[in-house]
Amino acid sequence: MSFKIAIDGPAGAGKSTIAKRAAAELGFLYVDTGAMYRAIALGLLRMKTDISSGEALANALSGIEVGLGYENGTQKVFLNGEDVSPLIRTEEVGKMASSAASKPQVRMKLTQLQREIAEKRDVLMDGRDIGTVILPDAQLKIYLTASVETRAQRRYRELCEKGEKAVLEEIAADIRERDFRDMNRETAPLRQAEDAVRIDSSDMTVEEVTGQIVSLVRERQGTLC
Ligand code: CDP
Repeated sequence: MSFKIAIDGPAGAGKSTIAKRAAAELGFLYVDTGAMYRAIALGLLRMKTDISSGEALANALSGIEVGLGYENGTQKVFLNGEDVSPLIRTEEVGKMASSAASKPQVRMKLTQLQREIAEKRDVLMDGRDIGTVILPDAQLKIYLTASVETRAQRRYRELCEKGEKAVLEEIAADIRERDFRDMNRETAPLRQAEDAVRIDSSDMTVEEVTGQIVSLVRERQGTLC
């Protein structure tokens, strides 16, 4: 049976950086489920879909196929066969992803695909509902979080490094808004699974968090030391 690791947590807690490193260290496949929601969001934006209409959303979704592939160990996400990985990291796509992710039709489309991927081999999957809904039988569940202030600071630094204009207060407000939406939606809200290990990364380095996760996996695999 494959070994499954679920990492959930709010936006900006460092999930993808840490998940990527831990997966590489462990030789697990890293699955970024947020990228799949972002690919659907890009499709919806391109079709100018009014997602408040159930019918319009259903029509649009019937024309959207999401796929995952790997090139030199890096995940690529496909929208109807097109590699859209470089196009999904914008704020516009992120906002649409968060709104679309509250729709049960959108979640249903990705649930099956995500479970199938995890059946085949050892995976480390990150998202919002992996430990609670997608892989409730995961051998290790992590709930990775950090204070709003820390998460806003990290995002601010990232944007500055990319040379983009950023206002710390606006980033913090956006994070609060996204947390609220993710935690209060009816379908698969973001919450810590009862059997998840909670890690608050506010005062931890990437190496420390990665190290803790890798140790937990080795402990559970019985391969510590
Ligand atoms: O980069 P960030 O953490 O903001 O988001 P992401 O992981 O790329 O995911 C984009 C959006 O998809 C999030 O704001 C969530 O609302 C949604 N999502 C979800 O609902 N369930 C998942 N398993 C993954 C992402």
